[in-house]
Amino acid sequence: MSMEKKKVLILGANGFIGSSLVWKILKQTNYDVVGFDISDGKLSNVLGRDRFTFCKTDVLKNKSDVEQAVKDCDIVLPLIAVATPALYVKDPVKVYNLDFESNVEVIKMCLKYGKRVVFPSTSEVYGMCPDEAFDEYESPLVLGPIPKERWIYSCIKQMLDRLIWAYGKHEGLSFTLFRPFNFIGPRLDDIKAKAEGSSRVITQFAHNILNGKPIKLVNGGLQKRCFTFIDDGVDCLVRIILNKDGCADGKIFNIGNPDEEHSVKELAEVLIREFQNYPEYAQLAKDAVIETVSGDDYYGQGYQDAQRRVPSIEQAKSILGWAPTTDFKTSIKLILDYHLLGKDYEAGL
Ligand code: UGA
Repeated sequence: MSMEKKKVLILGANGFIGSSLVWKILKQTNYDVVGFDISDGKLSNVLGRDRFTFCKTDVLKNKSDVEQAVKDCDIVLPLIAVATPALYVKDPVKVYNLDFESNVEVIKMCLKYGKRVVFPSTSEVYGMCPDEAFDEYESPLVLGPIPKERWIYSCIKQMLDRLIWAYGKHEGLSFTLFRPFNFIGPRLDDIKAKAEGSSRVITQFAHNILNGKPIKLVNGGLQKRCFTFIDDGVDCLVRIILNKDGCADGKIFNIGNPDEEHSVKELAEVLIREFQNYPEYAQLAKDAVIETVSGDDYYGQGYQDAQRRVPSIEQAKSILGWAPTTDFKTSIKLILDYHLLGKDYEAGL
């Protein structure tokens, strides 16, 4: 592919989105990537590759290194953030410090050095929005009362969206905001993590099946999500990064799979069924028990939930020519292949 060569800085390159994105950029473009992260466990496929430079460091403690890296690159993705709902309730101050304060500094650096920022907003900004499908430019952002601490993450991301938008419209910052809708994939969370609630729902359920623990449906599990396979998600992100003819400048994009809306209960049932395709684990799946638990008991009283969350992806379709291609069952198969067979779809470049 012939394109002007650029350098992309990814802060939080070892995260779920970061690690898959590094691989995808190297695979699909001629761009150079610089990654910063405190650890590198998810980067084995890309470490040592030609166009990838990795800096193992704590971004929070090495601000001058970050500033130098921002100066030296063309595009910045500040992906460092807590994005696990249990933590919004248990440690909202930590969420604030990491998700808000440290990212504001990076955004200001982008403004200072005239760099383009591609920033992760979130599906959570829509909160309990009643719209059938959420529209980036029309839908209201609906949050619960202050004691419902779950919404701190959404509120922080909304404030960052508004700050970036303001810098863009009034001070010339070049930016794109993107909103992932329940991305799922092999590297989402650590399937071995023991604490209940330390993972997003799909990894938590897989962990529970593997370890003979009951699957817990919070408030009955009738709430729905649109599950989006990570490879589709990062494919859209690469289009945003390439920014053909400036098409993504100053825009907001939902990235999600509106055709794959499933309840949490359905997710548990499909997962149990799919597990049975792996002979070594079939019995564990047959023995799996499903229970119901209240949100208060599972997460604490600061928890409140979104019942539905469906993206409109018209912006991404019409401007970026993007649409998701991986269905729910295939996504689950690829995730289980990784955890149960050690098979990685992200092999080779
Ligand atoms: C997620 C997280 O906030 C972020 O990762 C992200 O910004 C955003 O949404 C997104 O990925 O779009 P949520 O959708 O609530 O929030 O993510 P999960 O923790 O995966 O929970 C999904 C649903 O499963 C919730 O209704 C939760 O109550 C339920 N759940 C979770 C259970 O029923 N049982 C469990 O053991 C865990």
